[in-house]
Amino acid sequence: MADPDLTSPAPAPLVVAIDGPAAAGKGTLALRIAAHYALPYLDTGLLYRAIGRLAAASGVDPDDAEATAAIARTLDTRALDDGSLRGREAGELASRVAVHPPVRAALEAFQRDFARSAKGAVLDGRDIGTVICPGADVKIFVTASPEVRARRRTDELVAKGREATYERILAEVRERDERDAGRATAPLRAAADAHLLDTSELDIETAFQAACELIDRFLARRSGV
Ligand code: CDP
Repeated sequence: MADPDLTSPAPAPLVVAIDGPAAAGKGTLALRIAAHYALPYLDTGLLYRAIGRLAAASGVDPDDAEATAAIARTLDTRALDDGSLRGREAGELASRVAVHPPVRAALEAFQRDFARSAKGAVLDGRDIGTVICPGADVKIFVTASPEVRARRRTDELVAKGREATYERILAEVRERDERDAGRATAPLRAAADAHLLDTSELDIETAFQAACELIDRFLARRSGV
């Protein structure tokens, strides 16, 4: 009998785009999905965080489009492994450099190439379903109320022993939402064909199950089941 591994074609790649505002739970969800479906995962926010951080470290004004784009064009993706990029300060710098069209343009090819991997990929960010992977197989827009997101982020920071007050975090969440959704290039918004997943009242396990249902439904449809 023929070896089925040699005769059956490789499964078609699966590309999952996850977008949404700060602290909606995108990252945790994307990681779980990537592990469950054995897909490579790219947290695209880290790209903007790394550029913001490099700008600050080298005395470049984060609001200077050309100077920050020059950093973006030579970004070494090994810089993404730095755990401190996930902090609040880097998040704030990221949303400032992310408004510049030449910064975004410089990051496009890397993100698209990542999504073209043979197996497919999970990418999370703000413009994955709208700009980077408009043809993604499954698009999920993860939201939660600003209050719930601020509460989660505050708890997360306090658990890590950092100083954080709910009011201050809520103000930061609102400010970042406004900047991300209000910018002219690639603003934060759900693609027309994205599935909305409001996690205000869902824990991560329930949100993950809901996302898996969407993906499994897509896979079943694609394989004609
Ligand atoms: O984890 P959190 O949602 O707080 O932030 P993040 O996903 O790491 O993104 C940090 C900032 O980078 C966002 O506030 C956006 O301004 C920007 N960003 C973007 O513009 N486009 C992306 N695809 C990802 C992040």
